[in-house]
Amino acid sequence: MHCLSALVLFGICATTLAQLSNTQYDVIVIGGGPSGLSAASGLSRVLRKVALFDSGEYRNNPTRHMHDVIGSDHVVPAEFRAAARSQIAFYNTTTFIDKTVVSLNATAPGVFTATIANGSSYSARKVILGSGMKDDLPPVPGLREAFGKGVYWCPWCDGFEHRDQTIGVLGNLSDAYDSVRELHPTLNKDIRIFANGTNSPAQLSRIAGKNPKWSAVFSTYNITVNNNAIMNITRVQSGEDVHDQAVRKEFDKFRVYFTDGSNDEVGAFMCNYGTSQASRLPDQLGVRMIGGKIDTTAPGLRTTVKGVWGVGDANSDNSTNVPHAMGSGKKAAVYCHVELASEELAQIGSNSTRRTAVPGMDHVEREMGRAVEDIYHGLRMA
Ligand SMILES: Cc1cc2nc3c(=O)[nH]c(=O)nc-3n(C[C@H](O)[C@H](O)[C@H](O)COP(=O)(O)OP(=O)(O)OC[C@H]3O[C@@H](n4cnc5c(N)ncnc54)[C@H](O)[C@@H]3O)c2cc1C
Ligand SMILES: *[C@@H]1O[C@H](CO)[C@@H](O)[C@H](O)[C@H]1NC(C)=O
Ligand SMILES: *[C@@H]1O[C@H](CO)[C@@H](O)[C@H](O)[C@H]1NC(C)=O
Ligand SMILES: *[C@@H]1O[C@H](CO)[C@@H](O)[C@H](O)[C@H]1NC(C)=O
Ligand SMILES: *[C@@H]1O[C@H](CO)[C@@H](O)[C@H](O)[C@H]1NC(C)=O
Ligand SMILES: *[C@@H]1O[C@H](CO)[C@@H](O)[C@H](O)[C@H]1NC(C)=O
Ligand SMILES: *[C@@H]1O[C@H](CO)[C@@H](O)[C@H](O)[C@H]1NC(C)=O
Ligand SMILES: *[C@@H]1O[C@H](CO)[C@@H](O)[C@H](O)[C@H]1NC(C)=O
Ligand SMILES: *[C@@H]1O[C@H](CO)[C@@H](O)[C@H](O)[C@H]1NC(C)=O
Ligand SMILES: *[C@@H]1O[C@H](CO)[C@@H](O)[C@H](O)[C@H]1NC(C)=O
Repeated sequence: MHCLSALVLFGICATTLAQLSNTQYDVIVIGGGPSGLSAASGLSRVLRKVALFDSGEYRNNPTRHMHDVIGSDHVVPAEFRAAARSQIAFYNTTTFIDKTVVSLNATAPGVFTATIANGSSYSARKVILGSGMKDDLPPVPGLREAFGKGVYWCPWCDGFEHRDQTIGVLGNLSDAYDSVRELHPTLNKDIRIFANGTNSPAQLSRIAGKNPKWSAVFSTYNITVNNNAIMNITRVQSGEDVHDQAVRKEFDKFRVYFTDGSNDEVGAFMCNYGTSQASRLPDQLGVRMIGGKIDTTAPGLRTTVKGVWGVGDANSDNSTNVPHAMGSGKKAAVYCHVELASEELAQIGSNSTRRTAVPGMDHVEREMGRAVEDIYHGLRMA
């Protein structure tokens, strides 16, 4: 290979430079949640042509309001997304396609093709995956309907609305320890663990691994562990009907029935259940996964497939909230735009293998700083 330094910087040899792919769009964004929308916003403001796909399945769909998103606290998620869309639409460079992508492939070098159910397909040079995670709730009667409406999983999202109430903790005994740590004493003091038969030797050794004095903690905090098998969760009252808007308290009420005929009543539940990728597209593209997440440990939130980024809940930052979704979408948009621009720059003078520098390169390096180094690194790894 006869690569000269400036071209090597972008990992592309003069001798292997092909014409840039002639695609309909610059970037395919999968997802119209906060991560995909944020990526589209960043790309729109630098006038990249984006096709954003949205199948309408948002992780926070069940919640009443979204919290801890500064500037948009206590906003209904659908209203937040609608505002984001109208802001992005202003730039006239993103096409919103409210359809499920059924296949997403690298169909040629530097070309990705997304296909929707009616057979229409859309090509682009890059892909940003903001396809999200889904909550894997057990099929316990009453649970799914109450999720996000009195049954929550994230203290920052919904704990405040249920402060000072009696909280039932659902899920494995060992995970309950983390819930106690996050809730007691600021949000809740009356915490009841419903371990549902998971008070097993394995769970006891796992909780002891978290804190050997867990049992002393629980008794000092007056936290009870009820290991009865749960039969169902029955709503007694809805916080939508009974609430104090002035101080934002939502008074839900639930009765948990056990198979032995007993029951108990709580104001809300905090649950610890698993999550999994909401979409098969990351697998289909062949990106490497790590702990069930899209591996984006490479610089700039790149996946292991060149030209593909992973953002939002689905990526291996392991952070699952709206501010992270927005931050990661924005970050990927910057790296993606710079990578597109760098490929375009690398075309200049590509007919001559004698050039030692791409015109304008110094300036680009100054402007883009670390991003350029990351691109270099990213391309070398690819
Ligand atoms: C009950 C509940 C309450 C929450 N409350 C809060 C809160 O108060 N504050 C907070 O910060 N976070 C909250 N969260 C977390 C928040 O919902 C997520 O962090 C956030 O939604 C992640 O955004 P995302 O863009 O990664 O994914 P999502 O918002 O889940 O969006 C995924 C997108 O990908 C699309 N998609 C997937 N596959 C395809 C496909 N094949 N074709 C086309 N489109 C596809 C979906 O339709 C969707 O548009 C809450 C979560 C839950 C479950
Ligand atoms: C976007 O397109 C519309 C319709 O053509 C036009 O009226 C508007 O001025 C455009 N906006 C920008 C920012 O160019
Ligand atoms: C894309 O990949 C899917 C799954 O691997 C396959 O079924 C489909 O035929 C591929 N489509 C194209 C256009 O290559
Ligand atoms: C398929 O759906 C897309 C998006 O709605 C639309 O633009 C296209 O015309 C449709 N194609 C066919 C063949 O119906
Ligand atoms: C309780 O445990 C049983 C048996 O493992 C399981 O099927 C069920 O989904 C669990 N219920 C809850 C509420 O976690
Ligand atoms: C739960 O079980 C109780 C007692 O059998 C019953 O009254 C209630 O309707 C059940 N709730 C649900 C959600 O199935
Ligand atoms: C401890 O909790 C139980 C119920 O879980 C309650 O009846 C009791 O009053 C509590 N005791 C203290 C000291 O808070
Ligand atoms: C609960 O513990 C069991 C056994 O350790 C494990 O298989 C399961 O995945 C755990 N569930 C959750 C939600 O962590
Ligand atoms: C995310 O979790 C996986 C394992 O579940 C781990 O390998 C990875 O390092 C974590 N990522 C971060 C940024 O901590
Ligand atoms: C490269 O050379 C070809 C043929 O000589 C010419 O048509 C083309 O415009 C040149 N491209 C550039 C980027 O200089």
